[in-house]
Amino acid sequence: MHQSFADITSFLIRHQSYWRHDPFHQVISGQVVWQPSAPRLFEWLQTLSSQQIHQLKSSTQCTIEALEPYISDIRAIHTATELSSICAADELTLPRGLDAGIPGRKLEQIKQMTTACLNDHAGTEWLEWCSGKGFLGRLLASESKQTVTSFEFQGALCRAGQQEADKRALPMRFVQGDAFSPQAKWVFKSTQHAVALHACGDLHVTLIKYAVEQSLSALTISPCCYHLIQGDSYSPLSQEGKAANLSLTKQELRIPLQETVTGGERVRRHREKEMVFRLGFDALCQHHQLSQGYLPVPSLQKSQLSQGFQALCEWAAGKKQLDLPMVDFDYFEKIGQQRYWQMEALSLVQGVFRRPLEVWLALDKALYLQQQGFSVALRTFCEPSVTPRNILIHAMRQQ
Ligand SMILES: C[S@@+](CC[C@H](N)C(=O)[O-])C[C@H]1O[C@@H](n2cnc3c(N)ncnc32)[C@H](O)[C@@H]1O
Repeated sequence: MHQSFADITSFLIRHQSYWRHDPFHQVISGQVVWQPSAPRLFEWLQTLSSQQIHQLKSSTQCTIEALEPYISDIRAIHTATELSSICAADELTLPRGLDAGIPGRKLEQIKQMTTACLNDHAGTEWLEWCSGKGFLGRLLASESKQTVTSFEFQGALCRAGQQEADKRALPMRFVQGDAFSPQAKWVFKSTQHAVALHACGDLHVTLIKYAVEQSLSALTISPCCYHLIQGDSYSPLSQEGKAANLSLTKQELRIPLQETVTGGERVRRHREKEMVFRLGFDALCQHHQLSQGYLPVPSLQKSQLSQGFQALCEWAAGKKQLDLPMVDFDYFEKIGQQRYWQMEALSLVQGVFRRPLEVWLALDKALYLQQQGFSVALRTFCEPSVTPRNILIHAMRQQ
């Protein structure tokens, strides 16, 4: 882990001009930060058709191969950051009705995570952190017959989860509370194995800190939404992380999440329409000097997208109290389309840094837990097609 962390750190620092800058804003500003240092890569991107860009975007592996002539160490770092999988070949067979109300893809994640937790279990009870309705806790309680304390902020989710558990006479107790309040500490006990499925940013960091403080028996976390933090930038936990000198802003912490595997074609088309409108409207505003620099447009309803480019521009102008002059909307829509494919081409480059960044963030926590006396494993618990947030940090307190 130490060596991997050091390798990824130096890789990310060496290539930071490729991933730090948001493709959208580079297109808006007309300046690609890395172009002067990598003119051949920039020229190659210009030769790609929209179809080629679309194909490459759907396969990180193909993008890595295509980029290797320009970023020579890209394949090596991806090989080094590949985590072993603990996807269980044998599906967990659940008692009838136990999966009631759990959506399909979520159920698959929960089954895999339950198997992983049971296979590497320590302690005599469970703590389910930021549990939602306690789907994971429900399976753990049913399979292990041990008590589960499910901690969750939203009262309605606690009530729904408790009702479901009581109906099945499962040993689950929901505690409504705020993970960031000092009282949250009271739910931690050294006999617990804490679990968290997709606990966002500071929520999983808080769990790690309390688990260390209260000497929990074990910890199994799948982190997500790294940018949901209280500070302005990431605060590394491990000694190596602190010494790494790799600052990460909230915007940069979003990069690992920019993978739309689970979105499907309809979501992709919606996004394309919205981005064409935003980029075209910006071009229109700049051309007619309606604003100085980029003018952020409020988020729009999906239903608005079918109204067409002109209607969207008129709506945005109304929101921003701008008087639109006589405009050739078709022309600016075409500009929006061109800019959209420029942005997509640039995001191919940024995209190959997503996984190294995510693994770096997970390794920082793994190293911290190691330093605090836990034995730690970093693995994946399901296929990326089930959820791209498939990293599992598993830690057992050493005797
Ligand atoms: C991404 S959801 C995951 C829920 C559940 N673990 C699952 O995978 O179905 C994150 C959960 O954290 C809860 N949450 C957000 N902020 C919280 C806080 N400050 N304290 C406790 N729970 C919080 C949310 O209400 C939500 O249920």
